[in-house]
Amino acid sequence: MNNNLQPSGHDPTDVAAANANTTDPLYQRLWQRLAPFGQTHVLRWWHELNTDQRVELAAQIEALDLDTLQRLLQEPIEAQRTTLDWNQVCCPRVLRPASTLEEWQRQRRAFAVGEDALRSGRVALCLVAGGQGSRLGHDGPKGTFPIGPITQRSLFQLHAQKILALSRRYQVPLRWYIMTSPDNDAATREFFIQHNYFGLSADQVKFFVQGTMPAVDKDTGKLLMRTKWQLALCPDGHGGFLTALRTEGILDELQQLGVQWLFYFQVDNPLVKVGDPLFLGQHITSGAEISLKVVRRRHAYEPLGQVVCYQGSHYLVEYTEIPPEWQERRDSSGNFLLNAGNIAVHIFDLAFLQRATEHVRALPYHRAIKKVPFIDSDGEYRDPYEANALKWERFVFDVLPWAQRVLVVEIERAEEFEPLKNASGEHSPETVRAALCELYARWLEQAGLRVPRDSSGRVTVAIEISPLVALDAADLRDQVEHLHELHGPLLLEEPLNESPATSSDSLS
Ligand code: UD1
Repeated sequence: MNNNLQPSGHDPTDVAAANANTTDPLYQRLWQRLAPFGQTHVLRWWHELNTDQRVELAAQIEALDLDTLQRLLQEPIEAQRTTLDWNQVCCPRVLRPASTLEEWQRQRRAFAVGEDALRSGRVALCLVAGGQGSRLGHDGPKGTFPIGPITQRSLFQLHAQKILALSRRYQVPLRWYIMTSPDNDAATREFFIQHNYFGLSADQVKFFVQGTMPAVDKDTGKLLMRTKWQLALCPDGHGGFLTALRTEGILDELQQLGVQWLFYFQVDNPLVKVGDPLFLGQHITSGAEISLKVVRRRHAYEPLGQVVCYQGSHYLVEYTEIPPEWQERRDSSGNFLLNAGNIAVHIFDLAFLQRATEHVRALPYHRAIKKVPFIDSDGEYRDPYEANALKWERFVFDVLPWAQRVLVVEIERAEEFEPLKNASGEHSPETVRAALCELYARWLEQAGLRVPRDSSGRVTVAIEISPLVALDAADLRDQVEHLHELHGPLLLEEPLNESPATSSDSLS
């Protein structure tokens, strides 16, 4: 199928007439830039705009890559998704949790290697938090969502406190890079300032802003406008992380700091083992350039990208791009054939990223049809009920086939993965809080405590354990020796006299 959208649907003479008295040379320049692409309608209200608004619109137009947009509007839709010959696709080799003594010993050695990498400051953490989180319907950056089962601590706070706890454990101020988008950058920074960086020192945390792509009307290919002086711009996907690493000088900075591995994770999963020493050790000892954590799928249409092998390389195919018959296909034992679901926790070798970021232009764009608010040709604001716009994103995992060696590690979902995606149902605040309570309950039980459960085995009390108290079951063991049975809700917080500020002082 061919897109072949040629921007059409308005008469450029209308725009010219509306601005007939405009002698502004900037207007002329912009017109000349837009006219070959049939996009001059964005200048329709030029005569009404004040100087600041004109400057803002001009900057947005100048920054557009209109050639690429034109190409995307015309190229076949198949070129804008991962298209494989599914008959040649096979499952990747997956490292599963240790089940023999030998595997367990190997894991212990890997764990020590990972700990050493952390302790020696050769690991940095990177969070991608530039998404729009439209399915959740939360007002503000997704990371500000209150998720703690008792305290309502935010996703950002959970991640930050894990990093603070790791920094204390390994006596090193781990660096944390957070990617935002132009839409949520200011609110994200403000949230961290308001909360005093959750005890991290401000220079441990570095924000950087990803790029944008314009949204266009899905029927006409016309650029959509958010206001009379602003285009409707959307974040350009987490592939924008690769561009930003270079343009924001992060790669150089990491190199100067002696960082060799970047631990990458998403904002929406509060169970993530940030900076997991075992995973780091497995990555390092396997000689991989990229490692990924995966889980088995719960059902055929669970929204999980799948890691596959194809013609000798690894690929991650997004769930929206897998044909239904392959989503559903099972092997002779009844397991899903595609069963390496991406939980979006990766490790990248810095040397690989150096190479990959030189070729970002070769990364494909993935096309999506979405609801994007816009102003119509009368200047009226419209918030459409149905998808009205095309937008394009690049995915960071499209660099996978470029890696010479890839490690895929399967993890226990209940221990590490329950993302917050929707306002209700699957992957909602309710399921996420329940998963956190279950995780904390298992830690307590491993420490010898009895936790109340109902007849189907579900924990019946709310439990929350601050990452500053424990990052895992082993951390908790010594701290709850005096407790035997839980009767009501349990909140374990760090005592105030061990305030985070003291420990971050000692780190800096
Ligand atoms: C994502 C993965 C999917 C994986 C699933 C696990 C993609 C395309 N797909 O799906 O393979 O199985 O998570 O939960 O990522 N983000 C940005 N900038 C953007 C777009 C997204 O920083 O322009 C960030 C978001 O803030 C979020 C993450 O990337 O942290 C994932 O984005 P999201 O749209 O939530 O992806 P999913 O469809 O949930």
